[in-house]
Amino acid sequence: MSKIGFYIANLVKRVQNYSRFKNVFLQRLPQRFHGAARLLFYHTFTADEKKLATEIESFRSRIPALTTDKEIYSYTSPHSNTFQTDEAGNALPGEYVGSAAEAHMKTGSSTFNGILLRRIVAGAGVKKILELGTNTGFSGSYFLSVPGTELVTIEGSDALCAIAKQNMDRFSDKHRIMNMLFDEAITQLLAEAETFDCVFIDGQHEQKATLHYTQRVLPMLKPGALIVHDDIYWSEDMHQGWQHMVQDPQFSETVDLFYKGICVVGNGSGTKAHYDIGEYLPRPEIFRKNW
Ligand SMILES: C[S@@+](CC[C@H](N)C(=O)[O-])C[C@H]1O[C@@H](n2cnc3c(N)ncnc32)[C@H](O)[C@@H]1O
Repeated sequence: MSKIGFYIANLVKRVQNYSRFKNVFLQRLPQRFHGAARLLFYHTFTADEKKLATEIESFRSRIPALTTDKEIYSYTSPHSNTFQTDEAGNALPGEYVGSAAEAHMKTGSSTFNGILLRRIVAGAGVKKILELGTNTGFSGSYFLSVPGTELVTIEGSDALCAIAKQNMDRFSDKHRIMNMLFDEAITQLLAEAETFDCVFIDGQHEQKATLHYTQRVLPMLKPGALIVHDDIYWSEDMHQGWQHMVQDPQFSETVDLFYKGICVVGNGSGTKAHYDIGEYLPRPEIFRKNW
């Protein structure tokens, strides 16, 4: 479907489902996720969010001037069924590829996705966040803009870590950037007995890698903590990974918000609820077909 076609379908569904969204979905959905769900349904920012998004976005144009390197390297998202581990059981990352600094102005969370993340953590009262995939620090800036939050964020590319630091320093110094591969950093955090209220998994978008990192971070999370997955409609394979999470008895609640999938760590009682905004809005098409 074309972009305009999707926009029109979305508008029609929103009008048709306006009262069902308010009177059925929001009545069922736990209050802490209402802000995020409302953003998807109404597509509107508050005046403060608009101001913040403009301030965060202003960093993009500065990125090329922050490096003298001809190219900045980052780890790409691997294709489906390419997951491999080394002898120690650590996941092998995707390809490490260089591209012009200008190309990195376009990566990282958009204003919509950033505000969505912000509403998820603010709504759930999350204080300490672990992020897999720092990139240039846009999602990190949205997290740190929520008063009282602390962030540990992992990124394999040293050049991106340096840029992200400057981006996030504008909002808070309560961040720790680990310039390592995800598995190496998780091993270190486990050895330090770190715990988190929320983990945002936003790198290596492949089903087996996603399930692998989900299992690895679980020991750092107490019941009620969140795991937020990015790009659950990235590929068929990533979407299957998300469906797996929805069925996983380790999570007491799962919320499909299209651009983010939220899992709430359960307390072992086996109770399970799933909330799906796709019952009220047209579901996005899989972004990368045959990936
Ligand atoms: C999609 S970007 C993250 C975007 C960022 N969270 C945001 O929303 O602004 C994914 C990042 O993860 C990094 N990455 C991917 N796989 C990795 C791995 N196995 N270890 C460390 N970094 C990795 C990439 O270099 C890339 O910068």
